[in-house]
Amino acid sequence: MSSPNRRLLVTSALPYANGQIHIGHLVEYVQTDIWVRYQRMRGHEVHYVGADDTHGTPIMLRAEKEGITPKELITNVWKEHKRDFDDFLISFDNYYTTDSPENEKLAQSIYLKLRDAGLIEKRAIEQAYDPVKEMFLPDRFIKGECPKCGAKDQYGDSCEKCGATYSPTDLKNPFSVVSGATPIKKVSDHYFFKLSDPRCETFLRDWTQVKTPLQPEARNKMKEWVGQPGESKLGDWDISRDAPYFGFEIPDAPGKYFYVWLDAPIGYYASFLNYCQAKGLDFEEWVKPDTTTEQYHFIGKDILYFHTLFWPATLHFAGYRTPTNVFAHGFLTVDGEKMSKSRGTLISAHSVIECGFNPEWFRYYFATKLNDSLEDLDLNLQDFVARVNSDLLGKYINIASRSAGFLVKRFNGIVSDEAMNNPLLTEIRSASEKIAALYEGREYAKALRMIMELADKVNAFVDDNKPWEIAKNLDREADLQKVCSVTLEAFRMLSLYLKPVLPQVVAGVEEFLSLPSMNWSAVNTPLSSQNPINAYKHLMTRVEAPQIEALLAANL
Ligand code: 2FM
Ligand code: ZN
Repeated sequence: MSSPNRRLLVTSALPYANGQIHIGHLVEYVQTDIWVRYQRMRGHEVHYVGADDTHGTPIMLRAEKEGITPKELITNVWKEHKRDFDDFLISFDNYYTTDSPENEKLAQSIYLKLRDAGLIEKRAIEQAYDPVKEMFLPDRFIKGECPKCGAKDQYGDSCEKCGATYSPTDLKNPFSVVSGATPIKKVSDHYFFKLSDPRCETFLRDWTQVKTPLQPEARNKMKEWVGQPGESKLGDWDISRDAPYFGFEIPDAPGKYFYVWLDAPIGYYASFLNYCQAKGLDFEEWVKPDTTTEQYHFIGKDILYFHTLFWPATLHFAGYRTPTNVFAHGFLTVDGEKMSKSRGTLISAHSVIECGFNPEWFRYYFATKLNDSLEDLDLNLQDFVARVNSDLLGKYINIASRSAGFLVKRFNGIVSDEAMNNPLLTEIRSASEKIAALYEGREYAKALRMIMELADKVNAFVDDNKPWEIAKNLDREADLQKVCSVTLEAFRMLSLYLKPVLPQVVAGVEEFLSLPSMNWSAVNTPLSSQNPINAYKHLMTRVEAPQIEALLAANL
């Protein structure tokens, strides 16, 4: 785990370029960012890349509706997404777009390698077609009456009223959402990735069940999907769409485009390639099959299928390395319920900032809920206020304000070196590897619990030693300096442990303690009398309950 010289490529799922970033997305970016920052603190070589996922029918139609080109639309959305990620301190090394020349070249060359391997098949299929708009209709663009209960205006996959599931062809009086026309059936040629080929099955069974340490829930799901040897459960994957489509054209197939889910994960590599070229890194070294580098994808549990079946198979049969692991997380609920526009709980990232929230409150709160499982996690708004105020302010930040004043006013900011042997400090220091292991294993909730338990001990130390009492007794100057020095060194180590979660606050701590940027091993370098601290500046404010009301109102 703490082995030196690890080289890691890390990604978060690429958000669609047709909507805003909301707090549900943020859970994943915060989860990834904490891990990435932790790995950087360990001294590993880490590259964290992302991109907007820009292709497909919804983006094409939305641009048309707005009277702009898809390229204009995705340029505007990219700026918003980038702004939101910066606001939430998501430290991408490169944030790119799937609509890039690198991605087009990679997608086409990967496709040709799959074709050369005999894994692409052309087949004619019949699909719903809008005769007015002259385009094939994805399921989401067909509505009609529920075949079970007759409810009007239902989507082609399920009824919101009675919950029945069905296929678009079952809808009564179907109509195209795009033009209102009645869809007709039309045949066209599609290109399929032959996942049912025995080579794919064998590879995926081994990759998901033996080679990759997937989360147990993910592994079990894959076991169901891949089936037992000889029991072919994998269907071939339709990777093409007909014009008009916003995407990349398929080589040797005029009018046919790659389905967005073919080029989206390749977008991870395209973003990394773009970054490698800018930084002079050897891309091939990272993606070759026998590489010693590591590759991790953080995703939501809803897109496991794409990342643990399609993506590794695509990579493997196109001659690339496969992911070292895929880390899936659960969905975010708000006050125990699915996020909802009508309750104002589909909270956009930007509204959080606009309403004056500190993004690190959210980073901290999400971290207190995150573990390595696929379980859903809940943002309980009351609990959010309590946790931020009692843990972050009451337990952690308070430690600094309780000790720094005396040190600066009475001792010119100079700490007592002798104080650094205090057993409390030894105890906090010795938790370092346990906390590190929890970050490594994405058990952030446990890591933060441990850090807050240490903070409780530091506060108890201050309560027991009562520096404000000692300060009244001029004969006890040395004691006062020691107590405050122990407290502040404890605060420094707690800050180091919290740094992956609270990078901005801890940058303020480093400035105030007059320290260079701390990596993980800095836990062993205590404050020193040689390096006086600066005056304490306020590091974080409390969250006030009325702010929550304002946030919900802003999202209605
Ligand atoms: O589910 C989604 O939001 C997709 N845009 C995620 C793509 S992840 C990757 F494969 F590109
Ligand atoms: Zn129904």
